[in-house]
Amino acid sequence: VIGKMAKAIIVYDTVSGNTELMAKEIEKGMKEAGVEVVVKKALDAKIEDLKDVDAVVLGCPTYYDDLISSIKWFLTEMRKVDLKGKVGAVFGSYGWKAVLEHMYAPMKNIFGMEMVDPSLKKKMTELITEEGKRECREFGKKIADRIR
Ligand SMILES: Cc1cc2nc3c(=O)[nH]c(=O)nc-3n(C[C@H](O)[C@H](O)[C@H](O)COP(=O)(O)O)c2cc1C
Repeated sequence: VIGKMAKAIIVYDTVSGNTELMAKEIEKGMKEAGVEVVVKKALDAKIEDLKDVDAVVLGCPTYYDDLISSIKWFLTEMRKVDLKGKVGAVFGSYGWKAVLEHMYAPMKNIFGMEMVDPSLKKKMTELITEEGKRECREFGKKIADRIR
């Protein structure tokens, strides 16, 4: 008997497209591993979207040593849903120092999510290589392995 398909959502934002490229490759990796995935930009995502997923994956680039505001808004909204025990993962593109821990810490410490380690950060210069894309798909597969 085939069980219920594992479900995940990827919520991300991007300014110049790099984090979006990562999101698409991660989605591909998760789908290849048999997970049902929805991908939304932060401003289009709703907290109701989180209710019946097994994993929540957040993606955000680093600007001025910080997350961008749409992702901060979504993270803050996430407190309204019971996420305890769900799998969480974070990723993002950066130039010289990523701040993924700004997403990782509340997901782990406040929402009680089971985080995938290590998070996936890609320097803007290495993203578009085939190797960079492959790493993103591998990260997707790793998340998938935690929820299937
Ligand atoms: C105005 C501006 C500020 C930036 N600030 C940072 C920063 O503080 N730290 C960092 O590592 N990269 C910084 N970057 C580099 C971006 O994180 C990098 O270009 C990234 O690939 C952008 O991702 P996106 O295409 O998804 O928006 C900055 C880029 C710009 C244009």
